Amino acid sequence: MPHHTLHPLPHFECHLDDEAATLLLGTALSQSLVTGMIIYLYGDLGAGKTTLVRGILRGLGYTSTVKSPTYHLVEAYSVFNLNLYHFDLYRFKNALEWEESGFSDYCGTESLCLIEWPEKGLPLLPPADVHIHLNEQDDGRSMRAVALTPLGARCVNKLIIC
Ligand SMILES: Nc1ncnc2c1ncn2[C@@H]1O[C@H](COP(=O)(O)OP(=O)(O)OP(=O)(O)O)[C@@H](O)[C@H]1O
Ligand SMILES: [Mg+2]
Repeated sequence: MPHHTLHPLPHFECHLDDEAATLLLGTALSQSLVTGMIIYLYGDLGAGKTTLVRGILRGLGYTSTVKSPTYHLVEAYSVFNLNLYHFDLYRFKNALEWEESGFSDYCGTESLCLIEWPEKGLPLLPPADVHIHLNEQDDGRSMRAVALTPLGARCVNKLIIC
């Protein structure tokens, strides 16, 4: 057996009492996001995915309206020198639409991509650094963030210490 230490990728769970808590978590997340990252946002209709993106954008200093990309499938933001793409793939009939719409070109080392309804685009999406799961729980939401890469681990570890 090789003697190397395993560093399991971190995960973080919490309860979000209300919309303000979801926004605050987004702001906390925004502090450790870097270009090239891809985050999948899992959760039912109304789970709070867009709210979380709104909190992230607020945390990055974006002050204008953050619309749900439900109809346009993607909203693009330029915040200081960061390109952020917010996708909502709910209306995809087929994962091939990811390629056909040219969205794969949006995700690269120069941008940050937040993807709602990733299951509609899998398996054609680029792999995520972090998976975030939101679920209704009591009057609020449960949130679970799971790191998939070292880059994602840095992000989730920051949540753990804050
Ligand atoms: N922690 C929370 N507790 C209670 N309500 C919340 C919480 N976070 C967000 N909400 C509310 O949930 C509602 C739906 O949120 P949101 O639009 O962000 O969901 P969504 O996951 O993006 O849904 P969709 O899949 O339809 O795009 C909003 O009214 C928002 O205020
Ligand atoms: Mg949404």
